[in-house]
Amino acid sequence: MSIDKKYIDQFINVSSMAALASSYLVGKKDKIAADQAAVDSMRSELNKINMTGEVVIGEGSLDEAPMLYTGEFLGNKKGPSFDIAVDPLEGTNFAANNLPGAISVIAIAEKGNLFNAPETYMDKIATGKVENGLIDLDYTIKKNISNLADFMNKDILSITACVMDRPRHKGLIEELKMLGVKVKLITDGDVLGALYVSNSKFNVDIFLGIGGGPEGVLAAAALDAYDCHFQGRFIFDNDKDISDANKMGITDLNKKYELNEIVKGDSIFCATGITTSEILSGIDINGNNYTSETLVTHKNSNLKEIIKKINPIKK
Ligand code: FBP
Repeated sequence: MSIDKKYIDQFINVSSMAALASSYLVGKKDKIAADQAAVDSMRSELNKINMTGEVVIGEGSLDEAPMLYTGEFLGNKKGPSFDIAVDPLEGTNFAANNLPGAISVIAIAEKGNLFNAPETYMDKIATGKVENGLIDLDYTIKKNISNLADFMNKDILSITACVMDRPRHKGLIEELKMLGVKVKLITDGDVLGALYVSNSKFNVDIFLGIGGGPEGVLAAAALDAYDCHFQGRFIFDNDKDISDANKMGITDLNKKYELNEIVKGDSIFCATGITTSEILSGIDINGNNYTSETLVTHKNSNLKEIIKKINPIKK
């Protein structure tokens, strides 16, 4: 089964409108307001679409009372059933401080095909397309890097690894440095961080480390369309997370998830730039129009493109 191509434009519109809404709050030192603007817009645009959409990855659970909560139904219930993962503002610090890399993200799959990820951290590894068994979360860093270097016919010294700059990655970063790998440190935004491996023009050969689980699922949806390699393992290290995982039916807390267990079948992924990054230009407002750039993938039609749109600003 495929998701009808007519939905591609509609979901581009959803992430573009959310990015526009959030863009008014860029550089205002208020990440909550910037997030809220994106959430409100995304919810109202999604509700206009002919679908029965269920949020499987959202802004929190119902008892935390956010909009776009996990389990919320969206759409006018007149169309197919979809699973929806949203991150209306990914990179709240970037938006609040007017730094590169804030995006608005959405991923859609047919009902039952997107992993209902708990809101915990996830240990992730991503590369371009590689042979089965070449790169694995369970291998040592040294083994992964030397396997990748051999496969790419590169010297280890010319391998670049993207890692989030966090104290939890001190050992990882040290080891990469000792191996001679070039480390690209990012301060936030590991959806884009993982997506760097999708195209050699970004000069990142491997993405490694621990970030948000929901962000891992979103990145996996795009990486699937690029035929990249991705694995993730959720980290359940406190009683609440363990009990939440049990409630969600996750029994093996150490399970390593392959890409095809996280996203199945057809999917659409849209990420619109709010502030400019290496991958996407941010929202540009010019008079009554705005320009947006959206990275869009549609797995079944092999669509992987950055789509630039100029649209009127609706008042
Ligand atoms: P927000 O947009 O919710 O602020 O998330 C930004 C982010 O950098 C994600 O890209 C990443 O997965 C997560 O935070 C990492 O969390 P932490 O800052 O706790 O290490």
